[in-house]
Amino acid sequence: MNFTQEDAKKLLEIIKARRDVRGNRFISTPIEDEKITAILEAGISAPSVGYSQPWKFVLIQDAKTKVSIAKNFAHENAKAQEIFQERSLYKELKLEGIKEAPINIAVLYEPSPKEVLGMTSMKKMGEYSVVCAVQNMWLMARALNIGIGWVSILDEQKVLKAIQAKEHSQLVAYLCVGYVDKFYEQSELKTLGWEREKLLEESVTYL
Ligand SMILES: Cc1cc2nc3c(=O)[nH]c(=O)nc-3n(C[C@H](O)[C@H](O)[C@H](O)COP(=O)(O)O)c2cc1C
Repeated sequence: MNFTQEDAKKLLEIIKARRDVRGNRFISTPIEDEKITAILEAGISAPSVGYSQPWKFVLIQDAKTKVSIAKNFAHENAKAQEIFQERSLYKELKLEGIKEAPINIAVLYEPSPKEVLGMTSMKKMGEYSVVCAVQNMWLMARALNIGIGWVSILDEQKVLKAIQAKEHSQLVAYLCVGYVDKFYEQSELKTLGWEREKLLEESVTYL
């Protein structure tokens, strides 16, 4: 199938309109089952090293589990506040939406018990494959006007225990998923002056 210029333009529009969404923007409107399925389908359509498809998605709606993850975040974020004590803005930042988002999705990497084609030299390719799934989900969610926020200020082992993950699983992403009151036009961390935008010429070298 050949796509049109219009299709490519639309794809770029979705890529550029994707935002990380935190608790201050989520609304409680439930997400339709078919939209969750579409987001997960996008995830499992990602490329993966040796076609190993090493992902597992844990959908979390249970309030008790969310409370335990939110406590985990609060504990880890207190440590982060110490690390960033020179930058007073850090304390003002809302960096998760665990309780506000109607659904949380833990995206896990389950290493294969056998050798994987393409992973014989570079050992992190399994985890990278799962990241590809996360990005697909993020973009599909945005195309459906659903927000996703990635939370990484967490004690991984405690999360794995709270969600009863299989032994050897790794937490790649903890996602907060829900409808939003609005999507920001640019990264909130840029707007708030935490980081500046890197230009294309700073990101590319030519040999
Ligand atoms: C691997 C990864 C981890 C992230 N962890 C967090 C996090 O713990 N808390 C948070 O508020 N945002 C987190 N983010 C979101 C980034 O802050 C966000 O993507 C960045 O500021 C750019 O903004 P945008 O996604 O809205 O364009 C994470 C993003 C990535 C890719």
